[in-house]
Order: sequence, then C-alpha cells, then structure tokens
Amino acid sequence: MTLQLHELVTSSCTLPPMPMVAARVMRELMNPDTSADSLSKIIETDQALVTRILKIANSAFYGCARKVGSIQLAVVVLGFNTLKNLVIATSTKSLYHQQSEAEQTLWEHSLGVGVASHVLAIAFSPSALEQAFTAGLLHDLGKLVLYTKEPSTYTGILAKQEQGVACHISEREAFGFTHTDVGSVLVEQWNLPENFEAAIGLHHSLDTGKFRELKPRAKALTAIINLADGITKQLLVPGNEGVEAPTEGIEIAMETLAISKDHIDGFLSQIKETFDAEKNLFTV
Ligand SMILES: [Fe+2]
Ligand SMILES: [Fe+2]
Repeated sequence: MTLQLHELVTSSCTLPPMPMVAARVMRELMNPDTSADSLSKIIETDQALVTRILKIANSAFYGCARKVGSIQLAVVVLGFNTLKNLVIATSTKSLYHQQSEAEQTLWEHSLGVGVASHVLAIAFSPSALEQAFTAGLLHDLGKLVLYTKEPSTYTGILAKQEQGVACHISEREAFGFTHTDVGSVLVEQWNLPENFEAAIGLHHSLDTGKFRELKPRAKALTAIINLADGITKQLLVPGNEGVEAPTEGIEIAMETLAISKDHIDGFLSQIKETFDAEKNLFTV
C-alpha cells in the first residue's frame, strides 16, 4: 500500500477542511471581546446548522429548563463553550455523506461514542463533561478519511473488525499508520483544543507512556472515550449486542476513572436509552 500519512496531510483534497462556519465560530471565540450577538450572526449564516442546534438545545440531552427558540438564546442558555462544541459536532455530521453502509455504520458508531461519553462524564468525570460528547463524536474521524481515500481496502478492514480484529491493527498492516494518526493530524489542522489531541490520538493507546504523562483532564477525557468506545461496540452497534469486542486498555480506563465494571453496568441501560432517543437529533 503506497498511501502515506505525509501524503494524506499534504493533499488538500483528502483531509476534510473544518466546516466553514465551525472554523469561523472557533476564530470568533478566540476574540476576548466576542458577544452572543456576534456569534449568533456567524451561526445564522448556515440555516441547516441553526435548525440542528435548536433541535439539540431543546432535547433532553442538554436538559435546558426553558424553550430555546433562537440562536441568541441558545448562546446565553448553553454558554459559549457548549455552543462551540455543538457547532463542531453538528458541522461534523456534514462530513459523513452516508452514501454507503460503511459511512452509515461509522456515523452511528461515532454518535454512540459521543452519547456514551456524555453519560459517562456526567456520572464519573464532570471535568470531562464539556468536551465529552464532541470528542466522542470526532474520535474515529480518521476512519472516515481513510475510507474516503481507499474505500475498498477500508471496507475489508471493517469486515475484519466484525470478526474481532481491531481496526487499528488491520490499518497498520494495510497503510502503515492508523486512524488515530490521521485523527491527530486533523486535530492539528482544525486547531481543536489540546485535550482533543489526546482523546482522538490516544484512545487505543492507554498502555503507553504518552497516556500516563497526560494532564489529569486530558487523561480523564481519553479514558472516557476508550470506555465509551468499548461500550458502544458491545451495546449500540446493531446486531452486536452482548458481543465481547476487543477493546484494549479498558481496565486502565476504569482505573484512571476509579470505577468498577459494576459501576458501568449500572449505566448501560441509560446509555442505550439516550442513544435511541437522541439518534434522530442529527437527522434534520
Ligand atoms: Fe478508534
Ligand atoms: Fe471507535
């Protein structure tokens, strides 16, 4: 396989650019004088994004006590950071064209990990809560990039995963690098927060020095994503319920978050219910 990570990084047509409105929102949030008004004006240039944000802001997922009828109110009620995460998350949906079963599966897996991360963060790691959903949603974006670049090879990798071979192992065999390597490059290109680099780049590498050296918040977020990934594979992927999927590092994730399997079992039905209820939020 001649595909090079370097080639992926340098060929502008391969890596998806950060969706335009999301990039503008990120830039605006770096301005210390930004206001709810100026942010709303940027978001309102994308009507599909407005509809998605309002639908999500009014869902049980964010649990707002009052009805959110405008983007201005969403900014005030949800806060700048939550809104920023929502903009990134909803814009990401547009990268999944879902013209194939593989893309549909990747999207559902990513949404599942987003939802599971959110529920786990509420229960076990409030410091990770603000970024959990978005980091979960983005954690496997490298897979989408590889699938888009080499659809037939990647379809084979997904088929092997169903037989129990972890994707990152087949990816290394086929490409010489993994979806987490591609994800790390994306995090850099998109200028995402530092914690995302750990969560996306290290979610299969909890047994490494790099993970052990992370700052506590980045470590907790990465552990949440690893755990949510394992739970999603077992619980949320259709036809895969109860299957013991190989998820390396899950014991380290539990140890990092100081929780046991019994703790997690108590949240499985909540995760499943939340996923089923929220699945349609992104379909506008
Ligand atoms: Fe992954
Ligand atoms: Fe994953």
